[in-house]
Amino acid sequence: MESSDFLDFLSSRSSVRSYESHILAEEEIEYILTCASTAPSAGNLESWDVIVVTREEGKAALALAAFDQVHVEQAGAIFVVCANYVRSMSRYGERGILYGLEDATIACTYMMLAAHAKKLHSCWTGSFDDEDVREILSLPQHIRPIALLAVGRGQPPAVLTGRMEKGGHVHRDIW
Ligand SMILES: Cc1cc2nc3c(=O)[nH]c(=O)nc-3n(C[C@H](O)[C@H](O)[C@H](O)COP(=O)(O)O)c2cc1C
Repeated sequence: MESSDFLDFLSSRSSVRSYESHILAEEEIEYILTCASTAPSAGNLESWDVIVVTREEGKAALALAAFDQVHVEQAGAIFVVCANYVRSMSRYGERGILYGLEDATIACTYMMLAAHAKKLHSCWTGSFDDEDVREILSLPQHIRPIALLAVGRGQPPAVLTGRMEKGGHVHRDIW
C-alpha cells in the first residue's frame, strides 16, 4: 500500500450515527476481531477484552446505558471494549491501570479501522454509565468498559468532520 493510500483510507472514515437495521455477518465480526488481535500491547499482555453484543435486547439496554444514543440500538453489533486490569496489573502494578486503558483503546482503534476496511460504518461511543454497562453485561470488577463501538451499515455524513490544524497539537523538541 502506498502511504498516500493509507492517508486516504484514514481520512475517508467518519463516525456514523444512523444505521439501517442490519445484522453483521459472522465473517465481518471475525475479521474485526482478528484485526484487533494484531494490536500492540504493554508487555504483549493484551490487557483488553471485548463483548460482542448482537442481540436486540442487549443493544437496546446498552443504548439506554449510553444515555439514549439511538445509534447503539440501531447498529448491527456493539463491540464493548474493556480494559482487563488483572492482566495488566499482575505485571505492572499501579502502572498497569494506564496500560490496561491504553491496550483497550488501541484494540478499539484497530476494530474501528477494521470495520472501515470492510466498508462498514462505526461510531466510537464513550459516553455511557459504567455501572449500567457492568450490570447489563455481568462484567467482573477488574474489567472496565472503555468504549461501545457501534458497527453497522448506515448513512455517513455528507461532510466529513474537520480537524484542528496540525500545528495545534505539535511541539518540537520542547513544549
Ligand atoms: C473517546 C471517544 C468518545 C466518543 N464518544 C462518543 C459518544 O458518546 N457519542 C457519539 O456520538 N460519538 C462519540 N465519539 C465520536 C466523536 O464524536 C468523533 O470521533 C469526533 O467527533 C470526530 O468525528 P469523526 O469520527 O467522524 O471523524 C467519541 C469518540 C471518541 C474517540
